[in-house]
Amino acid sequence: MSDRNTTPLLEVKDLEVKYGNITALHGISFTVNQGEIVTLIGANGAGKTTTLHTITRLPPPEAPRLTGGDILFDGKSIVKTEPHDVVRKLHCALAPEGRHIFGNLTVMENLTLATYSREKGADLEKDYNEVFDLFPRLAERRHQRSESLSGGEQQMLAVGRALMSGCKFLMLDEPSMGLAPLLMYDMFRALKQLNQEGITILLVEQNAKLALDFAHRGYLLETGEIILSGNAAELMEDPDIHKAYLGH
Ligand SMILES: Nc1ncnc2c1ncn2[C@@H]1O[C@H](COP(=O)(O)OP(=O)(O)OP(=O)(O)O)[C@@H](O)[C@H]1O
Ligand SMILES: [Mg+2]
Repeated sequence: MSDRNTTPLLEVKDLEVKYGNITALHGISFTVNQGEIVTLIGANGAGKTTTLHTITRLPPPEAPRLTGGDILFDGKSIVKTEPHDVVRKLHCALAPEGRHIFGNLTVMENLTLATYSREKGADLEKDYNEVFDLFPRLAERRHQRSESLSGGEQQMLAVGRALMSGCKFLMLDEPSMGLAPLLMYDMFRALKQLNQEGITILLVEQNAKLALDFAHRGYLLETGEIILSGNAAELMEDPDIHKAYLGH
């Protein structure tokens, strides 16, 4: 990976997050360097989605409340940045858990909606072509209503939409969820290609083996705390990870 280096792009520092009175993240810290693929692995309820939602502050009605720590992007704190500026100015995008695509719109319309934040004069044609090259299934179905796509195809559309927002930093919340092995392979091949083209990736996954095969580095999150970190290859060999997440 030629342009992978140790310049931090995202620095999460002692992040403490609550929902009401319940603490979901107990002061976690991790970094993602420019050009890297970093994975955050952990079981149900560990706090993976909460971490991503705290960075983007985009979705849910009951948003996670940051009560301590800081999030730096490119060296600057973003905890007060407006959610739309996280996409538009910082070029961070999230392909969310459960996909959140607009089912009554076509594939093409969903992709086009994601371009609202792009600068005037951006080469959208090139980006549509790139999304369709990465995911030929989407190209074949570009005029199909999105609700009639298969689960895996909808997952591809969620990633395609993040790309159409012009992102340089892509966060993915369990992109393998519900994908058959062949589609999963296609998805991760596409993500690898994006990384090789310079997109930095933060991948959240329950599927530890898949994530550690794909990432350069990883962090293990357990009930809101990071309990292990290291190179993906090292983590893959860790006896605790083996026992708890790799099933042998
Ligand atoms: N909107 C919310 N309101 C209250 N509590 C929440 C909310 N969202 C998440 N939580 C709680 O915060 C904790 C972390 O949840 P989170 O969704 O971040 O886990 P996760 O690691 O993404 O799990 P999964 O693998 O199941 O998606 C859980 O205990 C969950 O019940
Ligand atoms: Mg989750």
